[in-house]
Amino acid sequence: MKPWIIGNWKQNPKTFTEAQSLIHQLMHKASEHQLANCQMMVIPSSIHLAKVADIINAQSRAANAASEHSENNVISNPILVGAQDISALSQHSGAYTGDCSAAQIKDSGADWVLIGHSERRQYYQEGDTPLQKKLQNALSEHLGVIFCVGETEAEHDAGDTLKVIQEQLTVLQSVLTSSTQTSLVGDLDLSNSGQNLAERLIIAYEPVWAIGTGKVPTVEEVAQTHLAIKEWMRGFNSVFVDPIVIYGGSVNADNAVQFAQAQGVDGALIGGASLQAESFLAIADAFTAHS
Ligand code: PGA
Repeated sequence: MKPWIIGNWKQNPKTFTEAQSLIHQLMHKASEHQLANCQMMVIPSSIHLAKVADIINAQSRAANAASEHSENNVISNPILVGAQDISALSQHSGAYTGDCSAAQIKDSGADWVLIGHSERRQYYQEGDTPLQKKLQNALSEHLGVIFCVGETEAEHDAGDTLKVIQEQLTVLQSVLTSSTQTSLVGDLDLSNSGQNLAERLIIAYEPVWAIGTGKVPTVEEVAQTHLAIKEWMRGFNSVFVDPIVIYGGSVNADNAVQFAQAQGVDGALIGGASLQAESFLAIADAFTAHS
């Protein structure tokens, strides 16, 4: 599997001009790196989402058109685009001030959405009920989902990491378990789109205490947690043969290699270090070298 290198821009940058510059730098410098061997994604703020998607999609079309006329006919590996949040209230449209629906995200040119990030859980008190609805809305609209889980420092120190994550994953379990999916997700037919579903669901393990702090768990801890998540996912539904599980929390150009080498780590979700093209690409390089 190609490693997933995903940049969560959060509420950054301050202006669209800066966002545009970042995406242009990424696309320009990408040609100097072996990015065909990894899958990159950027997750801009909702106000920049459609414009960033437009830039990337226009560039991909141009690159593919050019490759059709060239001898080596290399099809470009586009940078994917995701949204940072999604409405729990409606899959399509409605009187929900401030929300963006799954259909609107899709229409903006993005194909993925982040759900359950610890900052949403902490600052907006997002619990299991809205998370479950967000998941249903995203999957029903065929958006890919990056579902975040992770323990607090107190939970980590108490040795409760796996217990906490298993609890957080029950939201996914309830949506994915075949016996309950009909009533929960209506038109989400796992039997028909199962294989496809396994490719568009990523679990991001992000210890809350590691996000933006410079503190990171040991490689052994990360590997143990990732392997446990994979095992649980397989138990949820047989479509998950090798579930995609990525690590997030203070990943940077200097420590990326240690995560890239850890067992069961299929990529990284990167906040701060994704705001500079050079550091984001250096992380991508570390993962592609060890994939
Ligand atoms: P960080 O953020 O890389 O700045 O720690 C990661 C995240 O919150 O996804």
